[in-house]
Amino acid sequence: MSSQAGSLTKTPRHIVIGGGSGFIGTGLAKKLTARGDKVTIISRTPGPGRITWDDLARDGLPECDAVVNFAGQHILNLKRRWNAAYRDEVIQSRVQTTRQLVAALNASVNPPEVFISTAGKCFYGTRELGVAETYPELDEESKPMGLDFPAELVSLWEAAADGVDATRLRHVKLRIGIVLGQVDRSSFLGRLWRIGRTRGVLPMIRLPFCLGVGAFIGDGRQPLPWIHIDDMVGI
Ligand SMILES: NC(=O)c1ccc[n+]([C@@H]2O[C@H](COP(=O)([O-])OP(=O)(O)OC[C@H]3O[C@@H](n4cnc5c(N)ncnc54)[C@H](OP(=O)(O)O)[C@@H]3O)[C@@H](O)[C@H]2O)c1
Repeated sequence: MSSQAGSLTKTPRHIVIGGGSGFIGTGLAKKLTARGDKVTIISRTPGPGRITWDDLARDGLPECDAVVNFAGQHILNLKRRWNAAYRDEVIQSRVQTTRQLVAALNASVNPPEVFISTAGKCFYGTRELGVAETYPELDEESKPMGLDFPAELVSLWEAAADGVDATRLRHVKLRIGIVLGQVDRSSFLGRLWRIGRTRGVLPMIRLPFCLGVGAFIGDGRQPLPWIHIDDMVGI
């Protein structure tokens, strides 16, 4: 970011976070406000420090220094069947919100300095490994090695974010691994029984183990790229 140091070096800065009410967005908003920055969240629900997607469509993007987008229906919802209708909902929730944000960014008279769009490491897809094969190392330059639903989702999501006019601002694309958060064991009982609340994917992975039926998935050789919430927010 140093090569384009401008409004991002001034304080306080104004950061707009699409989907900022979620697991990662809450952590980021907390960190930014703690250091004196102003945060505006774009949400489906109005409230203090928030604008809605309808406000964004009607009034355009507020004057700001950076925009980060986390909005979208979570890919894993234990209450929903993973059928075609749900998958389409997941795709539309990300593509539509991203398109809306991109349109607002492109229409803004004074665009922010940076647009950070987020998607998942699912971009790379999956494939079955041969018996003696190890998983290939992947980086930003790697092409997807298989196409499955999450890979398709991420490619559509990134394509929507690519609509931003990158001649007017810096566009950073993050392909996030699984974000793991801390288990909050602040209560006496929580510490005693080693139970507590957490957010993100961890509660879903943890549940079978808490019920005594945890096991590895498949042959257990597949990678699980993960990042701690504090590191994610730090990026
Ligand atoms: N957490 C992970 O392990 C992980 C890993 C890789 C990628 N990601 C991606 O990173 C992003 C943020 O992750 P997160 O864990 O913070 O997600 P999250 O907790 O599910 O939050 C996402 C936010 O998006 C908004 N949202 C939900 N459904 C929506 C819909 N149908 N239409 C518009 N907005 C909707 C919600 O905000 P409102 O209710 O305020 O509207 C929600 O707070 C997600 O897009 C996720 O796919 C996450």
